[in-house]
Amino acid sequence: MTLTPAPRGVIAPGHVFLDDRGDIAQLHGVGIQYLDDRYYAWGEDKTRGNTFAGVACYSSPDLATWTFHGHALEVDPQIPDLGPDRVIERPKVLRNPDGRYVMFLHVESTDYSYARVGWAVADRPEGPFTYLRSERPLGNISRDIGVFADDDGTGYLLSEDRENGLHVYRLSADYLAVEEIVATTLTPPSDHPAGPHGYESPAMVKTGGLYYLFGSELSGWATNDNQYATAPTPAGPWSDWRDFAPPGSATFDSQISTVVPVARDGREAFVFVGDRWIPEKLGDSAPVWLPMHIGDGDAEVLWREEWTLADLFEHVR
Ligand code: GAL
Repeated sequence: MTLTPAPRGVIAPGHVFLDDRGDIAQLHGVGIQYLDDRYYAWGEDKTRGNTFAGVACYSSPDLATWTFHGHALEVDPQIPDLGPDRVIERPKVLRNPDGRYVMFLHVESTDYSYARVGWAVADRPEGPFTYLRSERPLGNISRDIGVFADDDGTGYLLSEDRENGLHVYRLSADYLAVEEIVATTLTPPSDHPAGPHGYESPAMVKTGGLYYLFGSELSGWATNDNQYATAPTPAGPWSDWRDFAPPGSATFDSQISTVVPVARDGREAFVFVGDRWIPEKLGDSAPVWLPMHIGDGDAEVLWREEWTLADLFEHVR
């Protein structure tokens, strides 16, 4: 397959970003935070395929121009969870109330039976992050994860637990431990062979006093119609799940990874950040990042061939 990268400074969904070295930015399963004056991104380095090659860190002023800062978390054969035979997915970072950076990871074995959440900490967004440990939160299987920090600093871990559902866990004050499940959501009863289950690849935002929870159906690297639900608090009650992209478009052939809030002149808009996986060449998987309208209980992602962060507010309602 011939890859056509996005033009520099432009977000072109379905086209990879080249970083400042001219390499494909490894922004897969990415977590993104706006810190001080730029966006930091922590992505799965998939250049070696599905096994662990490090968590790549980048920064950008515009979500399109990416500077590589090296691996924020390195492969470490001395630490079993970080060995080159491991699978490490969906690195998500929060700055805790003490100002430390806490990285959450889906730590796996290649057969996906390990199913744990891992923690690492650093004093700078670029790392190096020090790995702490992994666990099954409150004894539960934990596959795809997301994180959310509320306005009052309360942190939450979102974690997919197969037929038991998608859990919203409240974190300890320093974000280094899981305290309790505040909500669990399930897909509607369906004829899906798995029966009711939790959506995966979860992401949460809050706007207008309402919480929005996003996730994808369980179809591995294949894409599906991703869904969202709303609630007045992270503890719920959560609404029914519904589409935020045209039904049948498989979320414009992508899987949600996170949603980035952008505030300007008292207005708020959002960026949908998704992956279009190429299972046989995961490192070349293209970002599908799009303007997103979220408000008054509605969420809608809008297809654009090319766009820039500067014109985000021209695309949304
Ligand atoms: C997806 C998941 C990805 C990866 C993949 C492996 O369901 O969202 O992060 O784990 O399965 O097949």
